[in-house]
Amino acid sequence: MTINTRVPVRSINQFAPLRIIPVLTIKSLAHVDAIADAVIKSGINNIEVTLRTDISLQALKKFASYSELVVGVGSVKNKEDLERAVDVGAVFAVSPGYMQEIGKLAQDLNVLYLPGVATSTEIMCALSDGYNLLKFFPAEQLGGISTLNALSPVFPNVKFIPTGGINGKNVNDYLAKPCVAAVGGSWMFGGDLDLNNATAVEQAVIKAVEQVSPVNLLEET
Ligand code: 3PG
Repeated sequence: MTINTRVPVRSINQFAPLRIIPVLTIKSLAHVDAIADAVIKSGINNIEVTLRTDISLQALKKFASYSELVVGVGSVKNKEDLERAVDVGAVFAVSPGYMQEIGKLAQDLNVLYLPGVATSTEIMCALSDGYNLLKFFPAEQLGGISTLNALSPVFPNVKFIPTGGINGKNVNDYLAKPCVAAVGGSWMFGGDLDLNNATAVEQAVIKAVEQVSPVNLLEET
Protein backbone atom coordinates (compact mmCIF):
# COMPACT_ATOMS: atom_id res chain seq x y z
CA MET A 1 0.00 0.00 0.00
CA THR A 2 1.40 3.41 -0.97
CA ILE A 3 0.38 6.34 1.16
CA ASN A 4 0.14 9.55 -0.83
CA THR A 5 3.14 11.58 0.26
CA ARG A 6 2.63 14.43 -2.18
CA VAL A 7 1.06 17.59 -0.87
CA PRO A 8 -2.48 16.33 -0.24
CA VAL A 9 -5.33 18.06 -2.04
CA ARG A 10 -8.21 19.04 0.22
CA SER A 11 -10.46 21.38 -1.67
CA ILE A 12 -11.83 22.19 -5.09
CA ASN A 13 -9.98 25.50 -5.15
CA GLN A 14 -6.76 23.61 -4.65
CA PHE A 15 -7.11 21.03 -7.39
CA ALA A 16 -9.63 22.46 -9.84
CA PRO A 17 -9.08 26.23 -9.77
CA LEU A 18 -11.39 26.81 -12.75
CA ARG A 19 -14.09 24.45 -11.39
CA ILE A 20 -13.67 22.06 -14.32
CA ILE A 21 -12.50 18.46 -13.98
CA PRO A 22 -11.68 16.97 -17.40
CA VAL A 23 -12.62 13.28 -17.44
CA LEU A 24 -10.41 11.30 -19.78
CA THR A 25 -10.80 7.72 -20.96
CA ILE A 26 -7.39 7.23 -22.52
CA LYS A 27 -6.97 5.14 -25.65
CA SER A 28 -3.29 5.80 -26.45
CA LEU A 29 -0.30 6.79 -24.36
CA ALA A 30 0.75 8.95 -27.27
CA HIS A 31 -2.09 11.33 -26.34
CA VAL A 32 -0.84 12.06 -22.83
CA ASP A 33 1.65 14.83 -23.52
CA ALA A 34 -0.65 16.94 -25.68
CA ILE A 35 -3.50 16.61 -23.21
CA ALA A 36 -1.28 17.38 -20.20
CA ASP A 37 0.16 20.46 -21.91
CA ALA A 38 -3.30 21.69 -22.94
CA VAL A 39 -4.81 21.21 -19.50
CA ILE A 40 -1.91 23.06 -17.87
CA LYS A 41 -1.91 25.88 -20.43
CA SER A 42 -5.67 26.38 -20.09
CA GLY A 43 -5.41 26.82 -16.32
CA ILE A 44 -7.63 23.82 -15.65
CA ASN A 45 -4.60 22.14 -14.07
CA ASN A 46 -6.16 18.81 -13.19
CA ILE A 47 -7.26 15.64 -14.91
CA GLU A 48 -9.29 12.58 -13.95
CA VAL A 49 -8.11 9.46 -15.77
CA THR A 50 -10.80 6.78 -15.73
CA LEU A 51 -9.91 3.14 -15.16
CA ARG A 52 -11.69 2.04 -18.30
CA THR A 53 -8.87 1.01 -20.60
CA ASP A 54 -5.86 -1.31 -20.26
CA ILE A 55 -3.44 1.61 -20.34
CA SER A 56 -5.23 3.77 -17.74
CA LEU A 57 -2.67 3.22 -14.99
CA GLN A 58 0.28 3.74 -17.32
CA ALA A 59 -1.31 6.95 -18.53
CA LEU A 60 -1.99 8.07 -14.99
CA LYS A 61 1.68 7.55 -14.13
CA LYS A 62 2.71 9.59 -17.14
CA PHE A 63 0.32 12.43 -16.26
CA ALA A 64 1.62 12.34 -12.68
CA SER A 65 5.12 13.13 -13.95
CA TYR A 66 3.86 16.66 -14.73
CA SER A 67 4.43 18.51 -11.48
CA GLU A 68 2.00 21.31 -12.44
CA LEU A 69 -0.87 18.86 -12.90
CA VAL A 70 -3.12 17.47 -10.18
CA VAL A 71 -3.90 13.94 -11.29
CA GLY A 72 -6.85 11.89 -10.18
CA VAL A 73 -8.30 8.49 -10.93
CA GLY A 74 -11.87 7.91 -12.00
CA SER A 75 -14.22 4.91 -12.20
CA VAL A 76 -12.85 3.59 -8.89
CA LYS A 77 -15.06 0.61 -8.07
CA ASN A 78 -13.08 -1.26 -5.41
CA LYS A 79 -10.18 -0.88 -3.01
CA GLU A 80 -7.69 -2.42 -5.42
CA ASP A 81 -8.52 0.21 -8.04
CA LEU A 82 -7.75 2.94 -5.53
CA GLU A 83 -4.54 1.34 -4.28
CA ARG A 84 -3.16 0.78 -7.77
CA ALA A 85 -3.93 4.34 -8.83
CA VAL A 86 -2.36 5.89 -5.74
CA ASP A 87 0.71 3.71 -6.34
CA VAL A 88 1.23 5.43 -9.69
CA GLY A 89 0.54 8.96 -8.51
CA ALA A 90 -3.18 9.71 -8.19
CA VAL A 91 -3.86 12.35 -5.52
CA PHE A 92 -7.63 12.44 -5.87
CA ALA A 93 -10.07 9.69 -6.67
CA VAL A 94 -13.60 9.58 -8.03
CA SER A 95 -16.15 6.77 -7.98
CA PRO A 96 -19.41 6.36 -9.88
CA GLY A 97 -21.06 5.29 -6.59
CA TYR A 98 -20.17 4.95 -2.93
CA MET A 99 -18.83 2.09 -0.84
CA GLN A 100 -17.76 2.64 2.74
CA GLU A 101 -14.64 0.47 2.41
CA ILE A 102 -13.33 2.66 -0.40
CA GLY A 103 -14.13 5.81 1.55
CA LYS A 104 -12.21 4.52 4.58
CA LEU A 105 -9.23 3.45 2.47
CA ALA A 106 -9.07 6.87 0.82
CA GLN A 107 -8.78 8.43 4.28
CA ASP A 108 -5.97 6.00 5.20
CA LEU A 109 -4.18 6.74 1.93
CA ASN A 110 -4.47 10.51 2.37
CA VAL A 111 -6.31 10.94 -0.93
CA LEU A 112 -9.13 13.38 -1.62
CA TYR A 113 -12.07 11.14 -2.47
CA LEU A 114 -15.20 12.12 -4.36
CA PRO A 115 -17.91 9.49 -3.95
CA GLY A 116 -20.55 9.27 -6.66
CA VAL A 117 -24.20 9.68 -5.69
CA ALA A 118 -27.49 9.50 -7.51
CA THR A 119 -30.05 9.30 -4.67
CA SER A 120 -30.75 10.70 -1.21
CA THR A 121 -29.82 7.38 0.40
CA GLU A 122 -26.39 7.46 -1.22
CA ILE A 123 -25.88 11.06 -0.15
CA MET A 124 -26.79 10.10 3.42
CA CYS A 125 -24.30 7.19 3.39
CA ALA A 126 -21.48 9.37 2.09
CA LEU A 127 -22.32 12.18 4.53
CA SER A 128 -22.32 9.82 7.50
CA ASP A 129 -18.75 8.83 6.59
CA GLY A 130 -17.65 12.45 6.42
CA TYR A 131 -17.94 13.09 2.69
CA ASN A 132 -19.82 16.20 1.63
CA LEU A 133 -18.17 16.90 -1.74
CA LEU A 134 -19.94 14.44 -4.01
CA LYS A 135 -20.00 13.59 -7.69
CA PHE A 136 -23.59 13.69 -8.98
CA PHE A 137 -23.57 11.04 -11.68
CA PRO A 138 -24.82 10.66 -14.36
CA ALA A 139 -26.07 14.22 -14.01
CA GLU A 140 -28.07 14.85 -17.16
CA GLN A 141 -29.59 11.37 -17.25
CA LEU A 142 -30.72 11.80 -13.61
CA GLY A 143 -32.63 14.97 -14.34
CA GLY A 144 -29.79 17.46 -14.21
CA ILE A 145 -30.40 20.79 -12.59
CA SER A 146 -34.00 20.12 -11.62
CA THR A 147 -32.87 17.09 -9.59
CA LEU A 148 -30.13 19.17 -7.96
CA ASN A 149 -32.76 21.80 -7.14
CA ALA A 150 -34.76 19.13 -5.31
CA LEU A 151 -31.77 17.60 -3.49
CA SER A 152 -29.80 20.66 -2.45
CA PRO A 153 -32.31 22.17 0.05
CA VAL A 154 -32.44 18.79 1.80
CA PHE A 155 -28.66 18.57 1.97
CA PRO A 156 -27.48 22.17 2.42
CA ASN A 157 -23.99 21.07 3.50
CA VAL A 158 -23.37 19.07 0.35
CA LYS A 159 -21.51 20.43 -2.65
CA PHE A 160 -22.00 18.53 -5.87
CA ILE A 161 -19.78 17.86 -8.86
CA PRO A 162 -22.24 17.05 -11.64
CA THR A 163 -20.73 14.75 -14.25
CA GLY A 164 -22.29 12.98 -17.20
CA GLY A 165 -23.69 14.95 -20.09
CA ILE A 166 -22.04 18.25 -19.22
CA ASN A 167 -21.05 20.26 -22.29
CA GLY A 168 -20.34 23.76 -23.55
CA LYS A 169 -24.06 24.54 -23.68
CA ASN A 170 -25.09 23.57 -20.16
CA VAL A 171 -21.86 24.09 -18.20
CA ASN A 172 -22.77 27.62 -17.11
CA ASP A 173 -26.20 26.56 -15.89
CA TYR A 174 -24.58 24.01 -13.60
CA LEU A 175 -21.73 26.22 -12.38
CA ALA A 176 -24.16 29.02 -11.54
CA LYS A 177 -25.88 26.84 -8.92
CA PRO A 178 -24.60 27.55 -5.39
CA CYS A 179 -24.73 23.81 -4.59
CA VAL A 180 -22.30 23.03 -7.43
CA ALA A 181 -18.61 23.12 -6.55
CA ALA A 182 -17.32 22.10 -9.98
CA VAL A 183 -18.31 20.07 -13.02
CA GLY A 184 -16.68 17.02 -14.55
CA GLY A 185 -16.82 15.75 -18.07
CA SER A 186 -15.21 14.63 -21.27
CA TRP A 187 -16.78 17.19 -23.59
CA MET A 188 -13.50 19.01 -24.33
CA PHE A 189 -12.06 15.78 -25.76
CA GLY A 190 -15.18 14.81 -27.70
CA GLY A 191 -16.61 15.29 -31.16
CA ASP A 192 -14.14 14.80 -33.96
CA LEU A 193 -11.14 16.09 -31.98
CA ASP A 194 -7.92 14.48 -33.21
CA LEU A 195 -6.03 13.69 -30.00
CA ASN A 196 -2.85 13.20 -32.04
CA ASN A 197 -2.96 16.88 -33.00
CA ALA A 198 -1.48 18.84 -30.09
CA THR A 199 -2.59 22.21 -31.46
CA ALA A 200 -6.17 21.02 -31.88
CA VAL A 201 -6.18 19.54 -28.38
CA GLU A 202 -4.91 22.80 -26.91
CA GLN A 203 -7.55 24.81 -28.79
CA ALA A 204 -10.33 22.46 -27.67
CA VAL A 205 -9.38 22.63 -24.01
CA ILE A 206 -8.94 26.41 -24.08
CA LYS A 207 -12.32 26.71 -25.84
CA ALA A 208 -13.92 24.71 -23.02
CA VAL A 209 -12.64 27.30 -20.55
CA GLU A 210 -13.70 30.22 -22.75
CA GLN A 211 -17.25 28.87 -22.87
CA VAL A 212 -17.55 29.38 -19.14
CA SER A 213 -18.60 32.84 -18.00
CA PRO A 214 -15.81 34.44 -15.96
CA VAL A 215 -18.21 34.80 -13.05
CA ASN A 216 -18.66 31.01 -12.99
CA LEU A 217 -14.99 30.11 -13.14
CA LEU A 218 -14.15 30.86 -9.56
CA GLU A 219 -15.97 29.34 -6.66
CA GLU A 220 -17.10 31.65 -3.89
CA THR A 221 -15.16 30.99 -0.74
C1 3PG B 1 -17.66 10.09 -16.04
O1 3PG B 1 -16.93 9.16 -16.09
O2 3PG B 1 -17.70 10.80 -15.02
C2 3PG B 1 -18.55 10.35 -17.16
O3 3PG B 1 -18.56 9.26 -18.03
C3 3PG B 1 -18.22 11.55 -17.95
O4 3PG B 1 -19.38 11.82 -18.61
P1 3PG B 1 -19.37 12.53 -20.03
O5 3PG B 1 -18.53 11.65 -20.92
O6 3PG B 1 -20.82 12.56 -20.43
O7 3PG B 1 -18.79 13.87 -19.86
